[in-house]
Amino acid sequence: EKDGHDWFMRKEIFEQPRAVADSLLGRRTADGLLQLDEMRLSDDDIREVDKIIIIACGTSFYAGMVAKYAIEHWTRTPVEVELASEFRYRDPILDYSTLVVAISQSGETADTLQAIRHARTQRSKVLAICNTNGSTIPRESDAVIYTHAGPEIGVASTKGFLTQLVACYLLALYVAQVKGTRYGDEITEIIHQLEEMPDHIATVLESAETVYELARTHLNTKSVLFLGRHAGYPVALEGALKLKELAYIHAEGFAAGELKHGPIALIEEGLPVLCVVPPQGRDQLHEKMISGIQEVRARGARTICLAEEGDTSIEPYADVLIRLPRVPVLLQPLVAIVPLQLFACELATAMGHDVDQPRNLAKSVTVE
Ligand code: M6R
Repeated sequence: EKDGHDWFMRKEIFEQPRAVADSLLGRRTADGLLQLDEMRLSDDDIREVDKIIIIACGTSFYAGMVAKYAIEHWTRTPVEVELASEFRYRDPILDYSTLVVAISQSGETADTLQAIRHARTQRSKVLAICNTNGSTIPRESDAVIYTHAGPEIGVASTKGFLTQLVACYLLALYVAQVKGTRYGDEITEIIHQLEEMPDHIATVLESAETVYELARTHLNTKSVLFLGRHAGYPVALEGALKLKELAYIHAEGFAAGELKHGPIALIEEGLPVLCVVPPQGRDQLHEKMISGIQEVRARGARTICLAEEGDTSIEPYADVLIRLPRVPVLLQPLVAIVPLQLFACELATAMGHDVDQPRNLAKSVTVE
């Protein structure tokens, strides 16, 4: 049942190329337009949407953070991302023109469920992004995008996360198609790029052994920091969550630009800092990330950098360099998270921990 793997988590990490491909399957009509089976919101409903609020917990929340960048960029619709557990308590501004998107792998998370119930009392439309057919959250939503990752057994979300990202990109492109904020050709081009992602993810998985070796040199590590910018920022947060959940090591993710506003004080000799480097040549994002990496390294950090193939400018500042395939910045989370999953999984198992059932955690959290 684990397909020759020692843990469900590892099996699920290696299933990701297939899961992402399945998640993309059957989403287009014969004439190339995007279609989402259980969308159930009319084009008029979508045109009416003037604000999107994404609610989720844990890893699903980080998928929501990536979604914000994609939705705002492609649709020009303002997006807020909120932890489901906080949502109701701030008296959020909601009405019929607000689309609430609930992201939940299990479809049973109590915090997320209560949040959508609240949204519905305020007449907002609710769309669920969910991996579990017939679970409570999609049943109580107006529309659903199922992620089709297949059952996720490991408590730590892996293929669930990647397929949530795919569903978020599809939602963003669908809204762009309906609202006409992007040309059809451009949407088709992005879908093609998405269709190439399973191969890119497979390429990253081919170098798993290198990441495992690296992980095994961190058995006595007390703390690890993760840095990212733009769509790489949620990747940093998710990489840190994986390490906390599985290896019980203190880990924190930061937006690289925030370093100088405080966290840089944490840097000390030998502290491992995992850096998600954005693709080159866009809005100075890359240059700014490099200068952040230079700064932590100058203060003694040991930099482990994930950077795209062909990026030579990072070489002088990376103590360890892990290569990623060249993909557009908004899609980079699909490949950049994979080495971080492998790192946490291997480090935790080498420490003797049960990665399928980490201490104190449950697969679906059905209490608020
Ligand atoms: O089933 P959900 O997506 O609603 O679950 C949300 C979180 O509980 C979940 O992502 C949790 O953070 C995982 N253990 C992460 O690996």
